[in-house]
Amino acid sequence: MAFRGAAYKLREMQGPVIELDLGAYAANLRLLSTLGGAIPLMPVIKANAYGHGAVILAKFLESEFTLADMPKICVARWSEAEKLRLAGVKWPILVLSQFSKEEILASSAKEIFCYLSSEQDFRMLLSVGAAKSKNVAGVYWHINSGMNRLGLNSGAVSERPDSLRSWIQELGQIGIKTFGFSSHLARGEEEQEIFSSEQSRRFQLALHALRSVWEGEDPFPQELHFSNSAGVVWKLLKGETAFRPGILSYGTFQDLDSKKYLLSKFPALSGLKPVMQVRAPIRSIHLVKKGEGVSYGHRFVADKDRHVACISIGYADGIRRSLSRKIDEASKLKFYVDGVGVDIIGTVTMDMVLVDIQSHPKLAELQKKVAEGQTVWANWLCKEQPAEVHATELGTISYEILCDFTERLTRRPLGGDA
Ligand SMILES: Cc1ncc(COP(=O)(O)O)c(C=O)c1O
Repeated sequence: MAFRGAAYKLREMQGPVIELDLGAYAANLRLLSTLGGAIPLMPVIKANAYGHGAVILAKFLESEFTLADMPKICVARWSEAEKLRLAGVKWPILVLSQFSKEEILASSAKEIFCYLSSEQDFRMLLSVGAAKSKNVAGVYWHINSGMNRLGLNSGAVSERPDSLRSWIQELGQIGIKTFGFSSHLARGEEEQEIFSSEQSRRFQLALHALRSVWEGEDPFPQELHFSNSAGVVWKLLKGETAFRPGILSYGTFQDLDSKKYLLSKFPALSGLKPVMQVRAPIRSIHLVKKGEGVSYGHRFVADKDRHVACISIGYADGIRRSLSRKIDEASKLKFYVDGVGVDIIGTVTMDMVLVDIQSHPKLAELQKKVAEGQTVWANWLCKEQPAEVHATELGTISYEILCDFTERLTRRPLGGDA
């Protein structure tokens, strides 16, 4: 018993936690699929699942969905796919952008598919050779319809479809099959007439041109991937066989403006629930006397006696150091302790942040709990202050906010143990 008690205490003293509402994740994906016309999903879990924890989410998806509902999961790089395989994830994985010959040759991972975006990609894959071609389960050609980042230019494919046709044949000869085509929206959150419809048109034209030169025994590749989260709610592309939702599947919108706009157009999106919550335990509450400075550089000097709480989370966990505050500076983001917002003060350090807890209505109770070793949580990314608010306050988008949370935070299912 003594050992179990000690283990329990150790867990309680752990640092910051990302709690994952996996039920919300599944429900969000199902809602998006329904909105998109029951098209299969290929959830995007690159960048550690936008900070949520790719292994936990991938294993959850495997247990929750069928291959018919969810034919693949998507990552950006081959190295991310390898990590998932090493962690025991078996689901087919699609690598959206980055892989090398060396990675493919060295890989023992099965069922990894790739998007090919250029002639260089094609030549590199060809040079892998027939003996090792089995390390790639299949490919899709990525067509640049207006994002102008990666992909074969849609205009060039429309004009010279025979080049792509011959590349597809050459890969086929070494056993690498082309399953379909993809593109990516540049302005998916906006009114579809602004640009997304034009991208859809260019993509369709390129496919039409390719079909017109399609000869040979192999059938025309049927799979089409076009939409990201926002794209799927606009239902842009006829015949899309699967879509790639990222940000909305995590119950998060790009920013507050985009949330307002998309909710006004598609009220059903109000059913999306955030998957991630971030919180950290308070390590101590102590009194800082009037005139005393707080944290590195004494950026904050107390104007009166103030109780200060020290929270176990810092810039090495993903709290921006730019949120450091002097007494007369505006407070952008707060921690929420028992539902009450408290301001950051002084310099945000690598592992800890200080907050002014003086006017918290339950100060005495919180002090007692912390002194007794009970865990008192300070919530950071939470219902009072969701990712879109962080994004707006920090002049960025929710994607960056979510990706900022580092490996050091413990990820665990809501209500679960570490
Ligand atoms: C190629 C590709 N597809 C899909 C997505 C998912 O986009 P979103 O998170 O906006 O749904 C991304 C995200 O960056 C992407 O790069």
